[in-house]
Amino acid sequence: MGEHEPSVGQSNEWYTPPEIFEALGIRFSLDPCSPGPGHWVPADRIYTKVDDGLAQPWLGCVFVNPPFGKRHGHVPWLRRFLDHGNGIAVVRAYTSADWFHEWAVCAETMLFPKGKTKFIRPDGSVGKSPGHGVVLLGMGEVANKALEQSGLGFFVSNPQRVLAGRSVDSGQRPDPSESGGSE
Ligand SMILES: C[S@@+](CC[C@H](N)C(=O)[O-])C[C@H]1O[C@@H](n2cnc3c(N)ncnc32)[C@H](O)[C@@H]1O
Repeated sequence: MGEHEPSVGQSNEWYTPPEIFEALGIRFSLDPCSPGPGHWVPADRIYTKVDDGLAQPWLGCVFVNPPFGKRHGHVPWLRRFLDHGNGIAVVRAYTSADWFHEWAVCAETMLFPKGKTKFIRPDGSVGKSPGHGVVLLGMGEVANKALEQSGLGFFVSNPQRVLAGRSVDSGQRPDPSESGGSE
C-alpha cells in the first residue's frame, strides 16, 4: 500500500503533488524511490524499484516519499533518511503510531501542511481527500530552510530531537517493524 494512500492493499504509486515542490523551491540531488525518468520530482538522480533505492548509495539532498510495502514498510526508508541527514521525507502524520515516536521525532524539523495533501495517481488523477494528514521531515540546513520558508503550514524546529547525534543504524533503538504498533 502507498504510504499516503487512503485504503489498504492497493499500490505504492501515489505521487507528491507538484505544488509541494513549487513551495519548497529547491532542487534535490536524489529521489531514491522514484517511478522512473521524467517524473516531476526535481531531482538530479533517481533510483527506482529496479535499482532498489535502499540498497544504493545516497548522495546530497534527497527527497523521500517512501513506498509502504508491507506493514511499517516505510520505516527502513525513514531510518535511512535520518541516518543520511540531508533532505526532506514525507510520512503520514500519525502522531499516535509507535514508529512516529521512534523515528519521525528524530528529524531536525517538521512541517505539517495545512489541509489534506492529495497525492496523484500514475494516470494524473488526484486522489480523494485522505483520512489523515502528512508531515514533511527535514534534515540539513538547506532542507530545513526550505520547509520553514515554504508557507505550506505549521513549521516546527526540533532542537531536543531524541536522536542526539546517534546513528539510526546503530541498533540502539528498537525496530518498530518488529513491535505490535497499530498504525
Ligand atoms: C509513494 S511513490 C513516490 C514517488 C515519487 N518519489 C514522488 O514523491 O512523487 C514511491 C515510489 O517508490 C517506488 N519504489 C518501490 N519500491 C522501491 C525500491 N525498492 N527502490 C526504489 N523505488 C521504489 C515505487 O515504484 C513508487 O514510484
